[in-house]
Amino acid sequence: MEENKNTNRLHGRKKLYKLSDEKKSLLDDVLPKFIIDIDNNGHLSNFSQEQDVFLEIGFGYGEHTAFQAYSNPNIGIIGAEPFLNGITNLLKIIVKENIKNIKIYNHDAITLIESIKSETISRIYILFPDPWPKSRHNKRRIINESSIKEYSRILKKDGKIIIATDSKDYQHWILLYMQKSKLFEWLVHDANDWRTRLIKGPLTKYENKSIKSNNKPVYLMFKKNII
Ligand SMILES: C[S@@+](CC[C@H](N)C(=O)[O-])C[C@H]1O[C@@H](n2cnc3c(N)ncnc32)[C@H](O)[C@@H]1O
Repeated sequence: MEENKNTNRLHGRKKLYKLSDEKKSLLDDVLPKFIIDIDNNGHLSNFSQEQDVFLEIGFGYGEHTAFQAYSNPNIGIIGAEPFLNGITNLLKIIVKENIKNIKIYNHDAITLIESIKSETISRIYILFPDPWPKSRHNKRRIINESSIKEYSRILKKDGKIIIATDSKDYQHWILLYMQKSKLFEWLVHDANDWRTRLIKGPLTKYENKSIKSNNKPVYLMFKKNII
């Protein structure tokens, strides 16, 4: 796959503090074995064409990515995250649990998505995306008018996108842009639905933080519309 040409779209930190020798060795020796490979036609070379593939965007420390992988050994899992300390944490779990079905993209998820063939992914998870609360930064949000088109394009028929956030403002933004796009149907039946945890496994770091600060997260599930 062509190397990341749009790093300028990435905002935030790639690492939090100086990397230890253990982390450096995970990045140098282990990460190359788990890097996603996409051929020139946009096929995911690491997975079979029949296999369901889930994509998690901004996996943070990888708690949910790892959980998905060991609970669904037949599903291919792709995690996209540029944050090095998060990547090393996921690599540590992969090695400890001998997980075989995860591939990692360690740059901007949008660059990855643009290189994936249409109708390839069964499910997209975006858990606690950076909220960019200042209005002048809203354009950095990973869920926006143009990314929504790309999410729809790469999803298979009946594909789903699951989003969690604890930001009221982002929640409204997501619902507005998803609805405006007409590309997705919000799967909701009653007012309690969005308070229901739609993901399984351990709390993610940000989910935990949000619950502890009594800032209840919402969980939104959308199904791709066939247009
Ligand atoms: C608020 S954190 C949430 C992390 C994790 N999902 C959780 O729930 O703990 C948002 C994450 O998205 C990642 N991120 C931001 N922009 C990204 C992009 N363009 N592509 C992939 N990941 C991105 C950040 O590095 C960060 O780890």
